[in-house]
Amino acid sequence: MSAAQRAELRIKPGASPTVYSPMIFGGFLEHFDDQVYGGIYDPSSPLADRDGFRADVLEALRELKMSVIRWPGGCFASGYYWKGGVGPDREPADDMAWGVVEPNTFGTAEFVKLCRKLGARPYICNNAGNGTIQEMREWVEYCNSSRGAGADLRRRHERPEPLNVPIWSIGNENWGAHEIGHRGHEEWARLVGEAAREMLSADPDILLTAAAVPDPEWSLPLLREAGEYLSYISIHKYWVPNWGEIQSPSYLDCMMESATAEELILQSIAVLDAADVRGRVALALDEWNLRSWHHPGFPRKAVQDYDDPEVQRLVAARRASADPTQYTMSDALFSASFLNACLRHAEDVGMANIAPMVNTVGPLRAHEKGVIRRTSFHVLAMYASLLQPYVVPAEVSCEVVTHGARSAPLVDGVVTADERGQRLAVAVVNRHPSLPVDCGLELGVPMPEGHVDAVVLSGDSADACNDVGRPNRVRPEKTRLALTERALKVPPHSLVVLRS
Ligand code: AHR
Repeated sequence: MSAAQRAELRIKPGASPTVYSPMIFGGFLEHFDDQVYGGIYDPSSPLADRDGFRADVLEALRELKMSVIRWPGGCFASGYYWKGGVGPDREPADDMAWGVVEPNTFGTAEFVKLCRKLGARPYICNNAGNGTIQEMREWVEYCNSSRGAGADLRRRHERPEPLNVPIWSIGNENWGAHEIGHRGHEEWARLVGEAAREMLSADPDILLTAAAVPDPEWSLPLLREAGEYLSYISIHKYWVPNWGEIQSPSYLDCMMESATAEELILQSIAVLDAADVRGRVALALDEWNLRSWHHPGFPRKAVQDYDDPEVQRLVAARRASADPTQYTMSDALFSASFLNACLRHAEDVGMANIAPMVNTVGPLRAHEKGVIRRTSFHVLAMYASLLQPYVVPAEVSCEVVTHGARSAPLVDGVVTADERGQRLAVAVVNRHPSLPVDCGLELGVPMPEGHVDAVVLSGDSADACNDVGRPNRVRPEKTRLALTERALKVPPHSLVVLRS
C-alpha cells in the first residue's frame, strides 16, 4: 500500500470569488430533551448568568460566531402556542410532538435575548401545524410591528419596542405524515401563500422560508403559488437514521455518507431551476447533521398521559444521545464535507443550521457541571474563525477511498479568499482512515517550500471522541505541515485549514 496517496486541489481557471452567506454556519435550537431546559437555559444552575442562560454554554457558542439561530422547532413548532411563552404570566403547556410538559419559561423574548447575547439573527419557525393564520400573523406583529393585535399584546407586556426577528419560516416538515398539520402539496402551497401574505402585511421586511423537499412534484406547486413571497425554501436531512434505534455506523460508513451531501444540494437546486426562481429564492438547509436525533415512538400529535410508564420510558430513551463515544472524527469530517458542499454552492445555499446546536446530537454537550466541545464543534469553530469571506471556485482530483461496494473521493477541499483575492484560507479533508495524502495545491499564489503553518483537527484515531474525562482528546492543533513541491502532507482522518 502506498506510503501516501495523491490529490490535487486547484482553483478553476478564470474563477471569480463569490461571497458566501455567513448564515451557512447557523444553528438550530428546539424544545426537545435538554437542548433548551438544562442545556442553554437553566436559571437554577450555579453556572447561569443573571438572565438564566448557562454562561459557560454561551461562552463556547460565541466561538462558533453563529449568525442565525432557528427556534423553537422542528416538530415542536407545529404544536406550539406562542402566546403561552410571552408576558409575565407563563403557564405550562402540553408539548404534543414530544410527549412532555413545556414549562413556557423560555419563550420568544428569552430566545431573542439569547440571539442578542450571541450576536445571531433570530429565525422563528412559525406554527403552520395546529396554529391559525391569525396566530402566525400576530406572532410577527408581536415581534416586529408597531400596530396590530400582536403589537398591542407586546405593549401590554410592557415591551414598547419591537424584538426585531428578521427571518421566519412557514411550517417545519408539513410534507411528512409525522408532522402535526401534515398536508398534501396543493393544500400546502395555498396555505403558505395565505400565511405569507398575512405575515408580510405585518412586516414587509421579513425574509420568509417554507417547508419543502428536494422533490419537484411536492415543491413546484409551493413555488408556483407562493414563491413570490419566499426568500428561501427549507430542506432538512440527517444521514444516519437514529430516530427509532441508535445506529453504530463505522468511520468509513460515515465517510461514504459525507460525499453525498452535495447530491442533496444539487437536487434542491434543480427544484429552484425548474421553478425558474434560482437567484431569487435560495436554499435554507435549516436542519442538517450526520446523525438524526433519537426519539423512539415519537413525534406524536396528541397530548400524552405523562404517568404512562411507556411514555416515560420512551422520553427517557432520548438521553442515549448523550453517550460521548458516538461523536468521533466521523462527525467532524462529515460536517466539514457538508459545509464545503454548501460553500461550493454559495450562490444557492443561503443558510444552513446544524441541528441542534446544544445537546442531543449537536456539536456542544452541556452537562450539569460544564460543557464538552464535541469533534464537530471544532470544525464549526475553525470555519468561523479561519475561513475568508469569499469562496473561490476550485476542483479536487484525487483517488477514492473504498468501503464495500461504495467509494468516496479521498479528499474534499474548498478555497476561500479575502475581498481582494490575495489572502487565502484553504480547508482540506482527508477521509482516509490511516494514510496521509500528498495534496497538490494550485492556488494561484506563491506557496512556501518545506513547511507551512496549519491548523489540524485529527484526533489520535478516526474513532476518537471528547468526553468529561478527556474533553480535549480531539481539538485543533496549530502545527507545521510538510509542503514539498506545492504538495501538502495531509494527515489521515483529518481536517486541515491553512492560510496564506
Ligand atoms: O428529530 C428531530 C426532528 O427532525 C425535528 O423536530 C424535525 O424537524 C425533524 O424531523
